[in-house]
Amino acid sequence: MLLEINHLKKIFRTRFSKEETHALQDVDFKVDTGEFIAIMGESGSGKTTLLNILATLEKPTEGSVMLNGQDITKIKESQLAGFRLRNLGFVFQEFNLLDTLSVRDNIFLPLVLDRKSYQEMNHRLNDLAPVLRIQDLLDKRPFELSGGQKQRVAVARSLMANPQVLLADEPTAALDYRNSEDLLNLFEAINLDGQTLLMVTHSANAAGHAKRVLFIKDGRIFHQLYRGDKSNKDFSKEISLAMSALLGGE
Ligand SMILES: Nc1ncnc2c1ncn2[C@@H]1O[C@H](COP(=O)(O)OP(=O)(O)OP(=O)(O)O)[C@@H](O)[C@H]1O
Ligand SMILES: [Mg+2]
Repeated sequence: MLLEINHLKKIFRTRFSKEETHALQDVDFKVDTGEFIAIMGESGSGKTTLLNILATLEKPTEGSVMLNGQDITKIKESQLAGFRLRNLGFVFQEFNLLDTLSVRDNIFLPLVLDRKSYQEMNHRLNDLAPVLRIQDLLDKRPFELSGGQKQRVAVARSLMANPQVLLADEPTAALDYRNSEDLLNLFEAINLDGQTLLMVTHSANAAGHAKRVLFIKDGRIFHQLYRGDKSNKDFSKEISLAMSALLGGE
């Protein structure tokens, strides 16, 4: 088992009032190597909180996250940045690329910070670039790229260190339909190649590309669907139906 999420609870307390937000009540699930999981739920249901805890950007109030048997919620502050660089990949709604650097240097940046050799980085990029169709973009600057191209570059950057799991929070939210489909098809392709993916999304269409969908409500996983051998389209339909039946309107 790659990831075991055990009874996660997250309570946010504001400094000046006694008000508490129970963002996660009791989240419990397991992830096998090679899975592609979509996490869905209403706004405020705790999706980003969950992802941030898995990303070690936030500590849970209770519970544990075991990655290959190691509780990553217990890693010392001084070791966290290095741990993240070597084990986790992130893709967000915003692309977080630096306009002052070339696309290539943006992709290399995390590994430069980890003192990897140029040769090693180039080797990895040569594998990734054709898959993500960014070969011709490497010498450009991010501001010269379209949204879809920027997101493919951000995905390349997140995959450079061969992360054990790629975490994505609404990666298609800033993309139009065509670029979203394009990115999701790429996710399917890298998943087929063995990459484990966890993606938060609002879109049944996006979730239809995953192999399993978890539904979160009031800080708890309360339902899941497996794709089985359904097509993207049929799985999306099933997800839409489940959403309106289970989550209700927002
Ligand atoms: N840093 C924080 N401090 C206080 N409360 C927070 C903090 N982050 C999130 N919350 C609260 O926790 C709950 C869950 O928020 P979260 O961002 O995880 O929701 P979400 O499912 O990602 O929503 P969305 O779909 O809108 O992105 C919300 O009630 C939110 O207001
Ligand atoms: Mg969110």
